[in-house]
Parts: sequence; C-alpha cells; structure tokens
Amino acid sequence: MGAGSQRSLVLTAVGLLLALTGCGPGSTPGSQSASSATTAADTTAAFLASHWQRPLAPNGPAPARFSSLEATLAPEACGACHPQQYQDWRTALHSHAMSPGLLGQLQSMGADAREDHQACLQCHAPLAEQQEHLVRSLAAGRTLPPLAKGISSAQGLSCAGCHVRKNGRFGPRRLDGTVPASDSVLPHDGWQATDAFEDSRFCAACHQFENDGPSLNGKPLENTYAEWRASRYARENRSCQSCHMPQRKHLWRGIHDPAMVRSGVTVDAVLRSVADGRADAELTIANTGVGHAFPTYVTPRVVVEIGQEDRHGELIAATVERHVIGRDVSLDLTGERADTRLMPDETRRYAYKRPLDPRAAAVAYRITVLPDDFYAKFYRATLSDLEFKAGRPAIRVALRHAENSSYVLFLREAPVGLQQDNRAANAVAPRIQ
Ligand code: HEC
Ligand code: HEC
Ligand code: HEC
Ligand code: HEC
Ligand code: HEC
Repeated sequence: MGAGSQRSLVLTAVGLLLALTGCGPGSTPGSQSASSATTAADTTAAFLASHWQRPLAPNGPAPARFSSLEATLAPEACGACHPQQYQDWRTALHSHAMSPGLLGQLQSMGADAREDHQACLQCHAPLAEQQEHLVRSLAAGRTLPPLAKGISSAQGLSCAGCHVRKNGRFGPRRLDGTVPASDSVLPHDGWQATDAFEDSRFCAACHQFENDGPSLNGKPLENTYAEWRASRYARENRSCQSCHMPQRKHLWRGIHDPAMVRSGVTVDAVLRSVADGRADAELTIANTGVGHAFPTYVTPRVVVEIGQEDRHGELIAATVERHVIGRDVSLDLTGERADTRLMPDETRRYAYKRPLDPRAAAVAYRITVLPDDFYAKFYRATLSDLEFKAGRPAIRVALRHAENSSYVLFLREAPVGLQQDNRAANAVAPRIQ
C-alpha cells in the first residue's frame, strides 16, 4: 500500500465514490410534497435522514431482557423467526454486497483507512460493527469469525443494516395496516412502524447520488431515483418496492436476472422482405416495464446484433450490425462517450437493410446482456498494474464472476429461403436461452 499506483488505480476509477459523503435521502432531489401531504412527507424525510445518517452509530449492548436470540443481529438469527425474508435475502445481491470486487479494493486500502472504507461500506455493509469486523479482518489478513452479537462484514447489506438502529426494530405497518397494540408483548420489544419503508426514498439512500456528487453530462453517475421520479411510475405511486419487492418479498432482482429484465422490456423482430437479393429487417425494443432507464447504471452493457446466419447457424461476420444500449463512460469515469439507454416508455427501432450473403440461410436477431461489463474492464486494468498487490486474488475472482455473468436475452431466427411471405418468417418462434 501507499506506493502510488496501486492506490491511484483503485481510487481513480472508484475514487469518485469517495466524494459521496451524504447520499442521504433527506436532500433527495425532487422530494417535494403536495401541501396536504406535507406533514406525512416531512415525517418520512426526517425519519430517513436520521435512519440513513452515516456512518451509522454502533447499536451498543442489547437490553438485558432480550434473549440471546433477540440480542444477536446475525441474519440467521432474524431468520429463525422470519424464515421467508431470510431465504429470499440470501438469494439477493444485497446479501452478497461484500463481494470479491469490493473486498479486493478494501484490502488494497489497508486496515487503517477507516474513512476510505466508510466511503464504500456506507452502502455495501453499513453497520458500525461491520466496519469493526472488517478492520480486524484486514489486520489479521483473513476473514475472522463474527464478532459479538453475530456481526460480520461478510454479511453485506444485512437485515439489521436496513431494519435495526440502537437495537430497536423498524419496519412497515403490517399488511393489514395495523401496528402492534401498545401493551402487546412481542420479541425484540416489537417494532416501530413507519411509512418510510414503503417509500422509494428508502432505496434512494444508496441508489441515487446527490446532485453535487459525481456526475457526467449533468447526470449523476447513479441516478435511479431521479429517473424513476421523472417517470409515470412515480405519478402512479408505483414505488421501487412494488417492482423489486413484490408482496414484500426480499428478492431485489435486477439486471443480473434474465426473467426480471424480460419483465421490463418488449422486443419484436421482423423480416419485412427479402427481394432483389436484399434483406430488409427491423428489431424494436421498448422499455415497457422498467421504472427507470434500461439499464440504470453505467456498468451494464446491452448489445443488439442483427445479421445473417449460414446453414449451420453461424453468424456471417461481415453481415452483422451491432448496437449498444448503455451509458458508456470512460474507465477513469471522467467522460461519458454515449448514453443510449432506454428511458421509461421509450421505444428504439434498429433497421437492417443489406445485401444477402450467398451463404445466408436466415436473418438472426440477438440481444445479449453483460451486467458487469464496466467492472470486467476495471478489474482487468487493476490487475495489469503490477503494483496492485494486496487485493489481487480477490480481484481475480471478481474478474471471473464479471466475465461470466452475461446471458442472451432474446434470440430469433427468420429463414430467408421461404421469405416471400413475411408472415411466415415472423412466425418463427423466439428461441430464448
Ligand atoms: C424470537 C423471534 C424473533 C427474532 C429472533 C427476530 N424477530 Fe423480528 N419479529 C418477531 C415477531 C413475532 C414480530 C411481530 C410480527 C407482528 O406482530 O406482526 C417481529 C417483527 C419484526 C419486524 C416488523 C414487521 C412488520 O410488519 O413491519 C421487523 C422489521 C423485524 N421483526 C425485524 C427483525 C430483524 C431484522 C431481526 C434480526 C436482527 C429480527 N426481527 C429478529 C420475531 C422475531
Ligand atoms: C444501504 C444501501 C442500500 C439500500 C438502502 C438499498 N440498496 Fe439496493 N443495493 C445496494 C448495493 C451496495 C447493491 C449492490 C450489491 C452487490 O452486487 O455488491 C445493491 C443492489 C441492488 C439491486 C440489484 C442490482 C443488480 O445489479 O442486479 C437491486 C434491484 C436493488 N439493489 C434494489 C433496491 C431497492 C428496491 C431498495 C429499496 C427497498 C434498495 N435496493 C435499497 C445498496 C442498497
Ligand atoms: C451510494 C452507495 C454506494 C457507495 C458509496 C458505493 N457503492 Fe458500490 N455499488 C452500489 C450499488 C447500488 C451497486 C450495484 C450497481 C450495479 O448493479 O452495478 C454497487 C456495485 C459495486 C460493485 C460491483 C458489484 C460487486 O459487489 O462486485 C463493486 C465492485 C463496488 N460497488 C465497489 C465499491 C467500492 C470499492 C466503493 C467505495 C470506493 C463503493 N462500491 C461505494 C452502491 C454503492
Ligand atoms: C435493503 C434493505 C432491507 C434489507 C437488507 C432487509 N429488509 Fe426487510 N424490509 C425492507 C423493506 C423496504 C420492507 C418493506 C417492503 C414493503 O413494504 O413493500 C421490509 C419488510 C420487512 C418485514 C415485514 C414483512 C411483511 O410481510 O410485513 C420483515 C419481517 C422484514 N423486512 C425482515 C427482514 C429480515 C429478517 C431481513 C434479513 C434476512 C431483512 N428484512 C432484510 C428492507 C430491507
Ligand atoms: C415498474 C417497475 C420498476 C420500478 C418502479 C423500479 N424498477 Fe428497478 N428495475 C426494474 C426492472 C424490470 C429491472 C431490470 C432491467 C434493468 O436492469 O434495467 C430493474 C433494474 C434495477 C436495478 C439493476 C441495475 C441496472 O443497471 O439496471 C436497480 C439497482 C434498480 N432497478 C433499482 C431501482 C430503484 C432504486 C427503484 C426506485 C427508485 C426502482 N428500481 C424502480 C423494474 C422497476
């Protein structure tokens, strides 16, 4: 550590993140409210400003009347009484937020760099006790077992990170709208019900940079809440939770999940005609159900390919036209080269008009999603710096994950042999992998 380039590489590309001190929703852009609802909205804003005041304060010792199961903040302990939330959370990326890609960077910062850690932990593993665990693990050179009260930095964004402050539980009202009676006796002294858990600003705490935070071309690098706010979903009161936590399930599926992505986009591909030795085709993709830009972050890349295939189903390279959907930023995050993302309800058409190759048997349409494209490039650059040592093994693992997360979202082939009737061509069933 210390020797320039190792730190600088890590901290240039992610360094801008260090600049984000308060992403607190208290000052979230657009958090204005209609005058009749002012009090409720202000209560929510005030609650969230304090709930997400980071660094979070340590919880301190649990009340003596708590059983040891109630006192521990380990997600498995919560899971003993809230099994459904626990099972779902374990499959969600929030539980994997202390990923190799993050850990490698924290390792390169060293055990003493608490402020640098906090710039990442405030979103990835926000409990004060998790930072303590991280610091000790970095000093020991290995991940230590959980500390008192079952807390480990490896738990990422855990139940307690969202629900527990000073040992007290916070959550939404019950689904039937009720809250516990004041004289009811419940585990962990019950909970304090607040509407904030059903509000999109709850998520904005980590999914939206401040207006004065890192931004390119006038758009914050993380702008999900503002994109949602400008969409019809905000007007229709369809919160982040309504799509990402259906029936309050703790799933948070996103760009890494093909089924989730398919639920948000509508794709159509038609071969209009094959005449005079030319193919005339078109692919349409519309953002019909994503509550923000598709994709919202700068890190994924969606590639649309239209081209001709030979009899063996191989694409004929010279015939392929490629289009990218994404927000393309430079590796050092100093410039935006293009922003071709699809805003909510936006439709894009890609026309394809080309001479038919003599080998062509079909026109093929393919959409590939690379959820971690930016990270893969960033990890490759990091590993090419030989002075980057401390976090190397973890970053190698992260690179492998990032390279292996891509999938084919849409694939359709329209034979060009029987193409006189373009309905016949269109009737080819989509082959989705
Ligand atoms: C010994 C069992 C037990 C343990 C352990 C436990 N809980 Fe609970 N929890 C309950 C019960 C029972 C309720 C009350 C449910 C009700 O009355 O609707 C509750 C309520 C809650 C609520 C409010 C639910 C709502 O409708 O808003 C939250 C949030 C919560 N617990 C979070 C946690 C977290 C986080 C942990 C771990 C740090 C945890 N609980 C550990 C039993 C437990
Ligand atoms: C304390 C910070 C924090 C809060 C609050 C938070 N998230 Fe996240 N979220 C993260 C982090 C960090 C990740 C990335 C985890 C990883 O892959 O390392 C993430 C990942 C996600 C993903 C998966 C993205 C993908 O690439 O597939 C979705 C979806 C998501 N969050 C939605 C939400 C929603 C909806 C809410 C509000 C209910 C919310 N988050 C609240 C920090 C947060
Ligand atoms: C404002 C909240 C926030 C802060 C601060 C933050 N991140 Fe993240 N990070 C996220 C979210 C949200 C995602 C998921 C975005 C996506 O889908 O790519 C993410 C994804 C990542 C990923 C890719 C997924 C994974 O876990 O492998 C890495 C690596 C990462 N962050 C590293 C860092 C580092 C290093 C820092 C500190 C310098 C940092 N982050 C600070 C919110 C944050
Ligand atoms: C990223 C923040 C986040 C994390 C992490 C998280 N929750 Fe939640 N939880 C929420 C939100 C937001 C809601 C309310 C969702 C809604 O109302 O649509 C909720 C609701 C709940 C409820 C009430 C459910 C109901 O049906 O009424 C319980 C209980 C709960 N969570 C427990 C847990 C447990 C246990 C864990 C860990 C295994 C956990 N949560 C992890 C944000 C989180
Ligand atoms: C109308 C449904 C809907 C709403 C509302 C919605 N999302 Fe999404 N979200 C999706 C779908 C579908 C995807 C998968 C496609 C994609 O990745 O863009 C997604 C993807 C994501 C991702 C993955 C990262 C990426 O680059 O796309 C994150 C993070 C996320 N949403 C957070 C949020 C937050 C935070 C809010 C509220 C401010 C929100 N979403 C509101 C449907 C929704």
